[in-house]
Amino acid sequence: MRAILVRPPAAGVELGDVPLPALSPGSVRVGVLECGVCGTDHDIMSGRYGKAPSGDPYLVLGHENLGRVLEVASGVTGFVRGDLVVATVRRGCGRCRFCRTNRSDFCETGLYTERGISGAHGFMADEYVEIPEYLVRVPPSLRPVAVLLEPLSVVEKAVFQGQRVLDRKEPTPGDPKTATPTALVAGTGAIGMLATFVLRVRGYEVVAIDRHGEETLAATLLGLVGARHANVAGGMQALGDQTFDLVIEATGSVALDFSLIDRLGPNGVLVLTGIPDAGEPPASVAGGALLRDLVLGNQAIVGSVNANRTYFESGLRDLTVFEERWPGAAPRMVSARRPFEEYRTVLTSRTPGTIKSVLTVRPDGALAPPGSP
Ligand code: BGC
Repeated sequence: MRAILVRPPAAGVELGDVPLPALSPGSVRVGVLECGVCGTDHDIMSGRYGKAPSGDPYLVLGHENLGRVLEVASGVTGFVRGDLVVATVRRGCGRCRFCRTNRSDFCETGLYTERGISGAHGFMADEYVEIPEYLVRVPPSLRPVAVLLEPLSVVEKAVFQGQRVLDRKEPTPGDPKTATPTALVAGTGAIGMLATFVLRVRGYEVVAIDRHGEETLAATLLGLVGARHANVAGGMQALGDQTFDLVIEATGSVALDFSLIDRLGPNGVLVLTGIPDAGEPPASVAGGALLRDLVLGNQAIVGSVNANRTYFESGLRDLTVFEERWPGAAPRMVSARRPFEEYRTVLTSRTPGTIKSVLTVRPDGALAPPGSP
């Protein structure tokens, strides 16, 4: 079958011909429809991240996925040919208490693998085989946006973690309702945009920052969902002296991360989701003032990575709510869908203003059984 291959830690990407994975008892064969491209893929292709499965000279790239069930092995219940499915990314170490309960996003040993990223082949291929535990069935009505489910799962977890920490300042029962919570979202790529949508659904007033003017699709969509856009190309002073209850970071920029700490209000929480380059030169920070303010302000900085299937499931609910509240807005985040043959252009060029580029591995008609949506 066709597959997009990388050979970490070497830079580069190529189209290859690899064996079809065998269907083992208890597993499901999935035909891939679409794969999203994200910053992690760029990091892998540039040789800064990622690992091939042990013993293999290459890694099949791709972790943001959507496919259709092609074949179900004996012993599998709950899936039939034609079902739309999204696979989760991380596969647990099998040893720690989190991995043994399908919560490998909190793995304690670090011995997990991630499909398409580290130690396990991904989804930019004609087909893959997986066990039901890692497959999330998607309602047909969500077909246009389902390729966003994996990045949305990461956002669902990040927002939930932030909210959990905010909740530590429990109000006394009977207290009057507090003011509308405020959030700052740093970055208007797919993660930042999905975070804005989720936070608006949760009732936050949201400001989203990037380094662009009002001409981008992101700025238009922010307006549509009632969030404010601020261009910080000229510096964070564009935000005035505003501080926020929750700050969600989605850029991976070390310098920006530190500047976001200043934007925390009293008891505020900063959740970091972008993965900085470990090779960045050391940053100089006024550590004393920074840590003192954190303590005196009851503030917290939380890292959040990956997502277990509960966040994929809450993501499905939110995709439905997005469509109810802002019909047609979330699908616009998929700003480019390109055929598989154009993989090199899609994977290596970053078009300014694009929120999510998607590689169409196979058109739906090639996989959908007669009568399916
Ligand atoms: C993926 C996560 C993964 C993380 C770290 C992200 O791009 O969406 O599933 O855990 O990279 O490898």
